[in-house]
Amino acid sequence: MLSGWYSSKRGGVLRIGIIFLILANRSMVSGSDDIQKAKDTRIVETLLRLKNIDVQAKPKLKAAVLRHLATLEETSKYLELIERFAIDDLNERLLEIVLMSPDSNDGVHAARLLLQFGDVGRVQVEIDGKDEKRTLAVVLAVGLVASKESVKVLQPLVAQEGRSLAVRSAAVTAVGRHLQGQKDLLAQVIDQSLPSDLNFAVANVLLSSPDPALRQEAAKFLKLPATKDAEPLPTVAALVQRTGQVDGGLQVFRTVGTCSKCHQVRGEGKQVGPDLSEIGSKLSREAMYVSILDPSAGISHNYENQSIFLADGTIVSGIVTSKTDAVVTLRTAEAIERKIPSEEIEEMVKQKISLMPAELQKNMSVQNLVDLVEYLMTLKKK
Ligand code: HEC
Repeated sequence: MLSGWYSSKRGGVLRIGIIFLILANRSMVSGSDDIQKAKDTRIVETLLRLKNIDVQAKPKLKAAVLRHLATLEETSKYLELIERFAIDDLNERLLEIVLMSPDSNDGVHAARLLLQFGDVGRVQVEIDGKDEKRTLAVVLAVGLVASKESVKVLQPLVAQEGRSLAVRSAAVTAVGRHLQGQKDLLAQVIDQSLPSDLNFAVANVLLSSPDPALRQEAAKFLKLPATKDAEPLPTVAALVQRTGQVDGGLQVFRTVGTCSKCHQVRGEGKQVGPDLSEIGSKLSREAMYVSILDPSAGISHNYENQSIFLADGTIVSGIVTSKTDAVVTLRTAEAIERKIPSEEIEEMVKQKISLMPAELQKNMSVQNLVDLVEYLMTLKKK
């Protein structure tokens, strides 16, 4: 770099002049700030070279580290320093990082630090909270930490009464990332203490266990649904390892998959479920498989399936697209709009089951399914 710098004499003088001006200008505005920043950086660099330094016990050094942390823009660097100096009083910020991107390296690192610092309470508040989006984010990140501690925190959620299927399935997947969690789940399967709506999630976890004995034992109790021609469905863990044909996937979407009967992609298809034009940016490959194979495990907001009981005994089910005092408009699974006068309605019940049918894989071969997901993953935000 230096040789480039001096390569042209005139250019060099000019550049140095400009840099001098910029520096002079900056130091006039925030001279003491910059000096402090540089000092703090030097302190941190020195501390990093020392082996056994207890920053927590030295208030001045700690203050320098905290100031330095506040200037860092890269979250990964921020987390590394917090870990290195065991700074355990920025946990509120750690939680924010978890909530912002629970399945990123940073989110999982932040969750691991919260557990490491013994701040289970802060995690528990989110898990017990009413905001399901926050609960799901924390369950995801803590699950990806995949430690004994994370299993201990999440295990009680699996069969907790009053929790939605989405939260309980997420907890199953999360504890299933650790062998201890898998053993706990198997014990619950054997003593039949798990609700049956978790079958898919539990089968996926246990049938893909790295422990062959555990897998064999689980297979006595659990089975994944069959695909076309009774071909057994591989676990999601195995499916995500495969690659498919995008063109073939588009065909499956329009034909045997029946997806376009309910979903639009770039203006094509019917509008019963959410538009999937950007679904590849929203869901991971793993989450895509789960959305297709176990739709009720994560019903999208605004797409809850409602059943309306009419005074004459009929029941109409679908997604409520609008509601006034006089009329409720419902879109059925066949994409038909039904306007129902309020006075005819006896009762409206929110269903726990998605309007998206389970077992759509029955009409697809495993390869169809893999191609389909390959196609869906290409549908990204522009
Ligand atoms: C009978 C209608 C219907 C059919 C057929 C259907 N879906 Fe759905 N789908 C829905 C509804 C309604 C939702 C929203 C409720 C939910 O999340 O379960 C949904 C949700 C989804 C989601 C989650 C979307 C999000 O934003 O999180 C994905 C992905 C999806 N469907 C993919 C498919 C694929 C792929 C097929 C074909 C194999 C398919 N669906 C077939 C109705 C349908």
